[in-house]
Amino acid sequence: MKGVILAGGMGTRLKPLTSITNKHLIGIFDKPMILYPLESLIKAGVKEILVVSGRENYGHFVEFLGSGSDYGANLTYKVQDKAGGIAEALGLAENFASGQPIIVILGDNLFEDSFSKYVKSFKNGARIFLKKVPDPERFGVPVLEGRKVLRILEKPQQPPTPYAVTGLYQYDSEVFKIIKKLKPSARGELEITDVNNAYIKKGRMLAEFLGGFWSDAGTFESLVTATQWAMEKGLKKVKK
Ligand code: DAU
Repeated sequence: MKGVILAGGMGTRLKPLTSITNKHLIGIFDKPMILYPLESLIKAGVKEILVVSGRENYGHFVEFLGSGSDYGANLTYKVQDKAGGIAEALGLAENFASGQPIIVILGDNLFEDSFSKYVKSFKNGARIFLKKVPDPERFGVPVLEGRKVLRILEKPQQPPTPYAVTGLYQYDSEVFKIIKKLKPSARGELEITDVNNAYIKKGRMLAEFLGGFWSDAGTFESLVTATQWAMEKGLKKVKK
């Protein structure tokens, strides 16, 4: 299965850290943020990876990651001219996917769980990954009936459940047809939540519940949480 890392966007919530540097190149403990999602894909057995980034810092990604050979991956790059949303960035992966299913990860998401079994077992439709969090209002939040997702609300003021829809998704090739029909949201973006709700409506969405650590690193607080986790994990490895 091919993978896509979405690393565009403005990183507004991390200014002035992101005034010059792209958010995904900021350090988390001992390495730039982008390496965490890259390693998650590689560990899951995904080696053919497209990196989508904004035009301002595109060159920095190529300079840092190169062909991907240092990491055992084969990287391709694509520019998103303006930060028109996660779903817009994903739409740029259509040719790369060439009709095959894909796994998509947001460039500011750090995961402890391993995804190889999900990569191996995916056939068609879509799959999302949920994680219990103390602050669901910051995320896409599922409305649940047991383990079934009825719909997803994007950053609801009163979250119906304590779960976040994390920034990892699996889609079949229909995702590109869905993206082409999307209309921009109130914040002027093509929303990944609208893509996921379209799959839910068709009864083609599976949801998994994650047990391991997960955080995004898109705010100052979550950047510190992610750094703390990465440091504890990194130091444990050194001691072994
Ligand atoms: O972190 C998980 C959350 O990510 C989900 O729970 C939400 O449903 C989803 O909408 C998203 O929420 P955020 O508001 O945190 O997304 P953000 O705008 O921070 O973008 C996350 C990543 O997506 C960012 O690190 C890079 C990529 N991105 C974003 C935009 C807006 C792009 O590649 N292009 C874009 O235009």
